[in-house]
Amino acid sequence: MKELSLNENDFRSFRDLIAKRSGIYFDPEKQELLKDNLLQRMADCGLSNFADYFNLLSSPAGDKEFDYLLNLITIPETYFFRDRGQFRALERFVIPELIEKKSYPGASLRIWSAGCSTGEEPYTIAMILAAGMVDMPIQILATDVSHDALKAAREGVYNGRSVRDMPQDYLNRFFTKKGEKYYLEDSIKQMVEFRYFNLVTEPYPLMEMSGWDIIFCRNVTIYFQAEATRKVIHNFHRSLREDGYLFAGYSESLRYMSNEFNTVQHEGAFFYQKGMPKKTVRKKTRKIRLRQGSTAPRAKKQGPKAVAGLKSDEVARICARAKKLLEMGQPEGASEILSPYLQESSTPGSVLLLQAEIALNQGDLEKAVHLCERILQGEPLSIAGHYLLGVVYLTWEDEGRAIEEFKKVLYLEPEHALARFNLGELYSQVGRLDEARLEYANVARLLEKMPGSLDERFAGGFSPALLIDTCLSRIRALEAKPRGTAGRRWDGAKRREGE
Ligand SMILES: C[S@@+](CC[C@H](N)C(=O)[O-])C[C@H]1O[C@@H](n2cnc3c(N)ncnc32)[C@H](O)[C@@H]1O
Repeated sequence: MKELSLNENDFRSFRDLIAKRSGIYFDPEKQELLKDNLLQRMADCGLSNFADYFNLLSSPAGDKEFDYLLNLITIPETYFFRDRGQFRALERFVIPELIEKKSYPGASLRIWSAGCSTGEEPYTIAMILAAGMVDMPIQILATDVSHDALKAAREGVYNGRSVRDMPQDYLNRFFTKKGEKYYLEDSIKQMVEFRYFNLVTEPYPLMEMSGWDIIFCRNVTIYFQAEATRKVIHNFHRSLREDGYLFAGYSESLRYMSNEFNTVQHEGAFFYQKGMPKKTVRKKTRKIRLRQGSTAPRAKKQGPKAVAGLKSDEVARICARAKKLLEMGQPEGASEILSPYLQESSTPGSVLLLQAEIALNQGDLEKAVHLCERILQGEPLSIAGHYLLGVVYLTWEDEGRAIEEFKKVLYLEPEHALARFNLGELYSQVGRLDEARLEYANVARLLEKMPGSLDERFAGGFSPALLIDTCLSRIRALEAKPRGTAGRRWDGAKRREGE
């Protein structure tokens, strides 16, 4: 079957059928990938030519087969607490605001995770609500078009990759580890209802899908054509309550897609609110906070402290305490420990570095940049300072500056695996695919020879083996694209808040 060729006309027919029925659009460079998926389904259906398979998909009985095809062509990549800043905004601003507004009898909170894949996103929302002990009826609906993904979501069993960015206290509290697998607690599983729902199929069942307080639809429309995305966003607008919130992925700005939403910014994270468009609205953390059921120790508030007289082992002890709280998902506690030592010009680089990491974790990118700059003023060749600054710019989607910083790291330490990996990610984002391939290959080679070249402080739970695997799978994905093709075009534009 492999020798069958998918000619240009056949490719366009399948591409248009798939785009119409799912929104997912195959660029010409993905023709081979589409062909492989079609061949796989044709083999399962016992068909030996593309025309017969196309007729099957287009026939009245083709819906079920189309769902099987969708299982193959959808991209299920997801993990718990993906884009942490947005979940922080949910916890500290959006939910407290909704709770305040909904003090009337019979009020409930309704959240829809659209394109939920294997469930990490809706379960993250459920855990945040459970940890915050929200005291009102909650509905969390999670939908997707991939039956395979929905089945895995209902099972609630995950691997290390899915939990790599999960705060440690959530992991301890809501999961049981058996072997290499993490089993989600039943009480969280029961909070989420999973259902098949195609975002692109018209007519949209608005009666059923309306009145949402919050919709999450992240990293779904990146695979769509602009027209399909516009339709989906408009439908979300109709499905939300007045003032309801929409969380989109970082690369799914609504700027050219809709003028029906306000952009909201909370501590560096962006999301949208239904309403007449104004300009970006900056929101402060609400005074009413979700109560945290965490058992982790709280740091005591302290006044300014002199650091000049501190011995280096005392500094190390203070940093270790703060680091521990950060790893337990308590950046505020960590920050409280360090803040008394930050006033002086002689603050050690290690304290500034950790505070910058905390600011990054809290989504306060401006503060993180300022702290990195302080580090680099004192120590211009600080590898960690340049590395962290690169990560901050990467989070800020300022690819140009991020690339510059990671290159500086490699100038100072050519074996810095994470800087190379991030360069690979950036090159691939801006369409410099040959350079991306090269960096991924370099990281894999480097880590095979020297696993110790992975700086654990910044590895975010990635082991050398996992990073090698990730690089190899990135190379495979790039191999599916012809050499020299551009991904997203990079015009060097700097995207900062409010722009
Ligand atoms: C990359 S995952 C994103 C998962 C999660 N939202 C996140 O950000 O981590 C994209 C998901 O969108 C789903 N999807 C693609 N087209 C869809 C459509 N037309 N309707 C609903 N879901 C769709 C895919 O099946 C896949 O599970």
